[in-house]
Amino acid sequence: MNFHELMNKRRSVRGFTERRLTDDEITKLLEAATAAPNACNYQSWHFYVVRGREKINGFVPKIYRGEWFRSAAVVFVVCTDAGQLEARFGGRGADLFAIQDTACAIDHLMLMAAEMGLGSCFVGAFDEDECRRYLNIPDSRRPVALVPVGEPAADTPKRPRKPINEVVTFAGEEE
Ligand SMILES: Cc1cc2nc3c(=O)[nH]c(=O)nc-3n(C[C@H](O)[C@H](O)[C@H](O)COP(=O)(O)O)c2cc1C
Repeated sequence: MNFHELMNKRRSVRGFTERRLTDDEITKLLEAATAAPNACNYQSWHFYVVRGREKINGFVPKIYRGEWFRSAAVVFVVCTDAGQLEARFGGRGADLFAIQDTACAIDHLMLMAAEMGLGSCFVGAFDEDECRRYLNIPDSRRPVALVPVGEPAADTPKRPRKPINEVVTFAGEEE
C-alpha cells in the first residue's frame, strides 16, 4: 500500500470487534507515534496505554460519553510532557509546540493503525480533569487526546473535504 492508498484508507472508526491487540501490535503503533516529527527532538509526549474491559469501560461516561468507546481494544491517552520545550521557548513551547508534537504523533499512530487493518479515532472532547484523576497523571503532563484503537466492526464511509480552493490562498506568482 503506498501513502496515497493509506491516507485514503484511514477513517475515524467508532466501533470495534472483540479482537484484542497483541503486545507486538501495540509496540508497532507506539513506534509509529514516536517516529513523528517534533520540536527540537525533545519528544515532548507521553502515552498511557489502557487495556482491559474494566479499565476501558471506566472512561464512559465520566471521561468520554460515547458508548461506542467501550468497544476499543486499547486506548492510548496521549499527553504532552512539555518541560524541556517550556524551558527553552516559554509559553509558546508549552502551549503550542508540545500540542503540535502530540498531534503529529497521533496522526502517525492512526496511519499505522490503518496500515495494520485497524481502526482508530482522535477523541478530543473528553473531560481532562477526570482523565487525569483516573490515570493518576501528574501535573507535568497534560492529557490532550484519547485514541481508541481496534478492529473496525463495520465499514466507515469516507468523509468529504472542502475543495482545495476554499482552504488555500496562494501567494506570489510562479516565475
Ligand atoms: C482535534 C480533533 C478532535 C476530535 N475530537 C473528536 C471527538 O471528541 N469525538 C469524535 O468522535 N471524533 C473526534 N475527532 C474526529 C473527527 O470527527 C474526524 O477526524 C473528522 O470528522 C473527519 O473524519 P475522518 O477522520 O473519518 O476523515 C476529532 C479529530 C480531531 C483532529
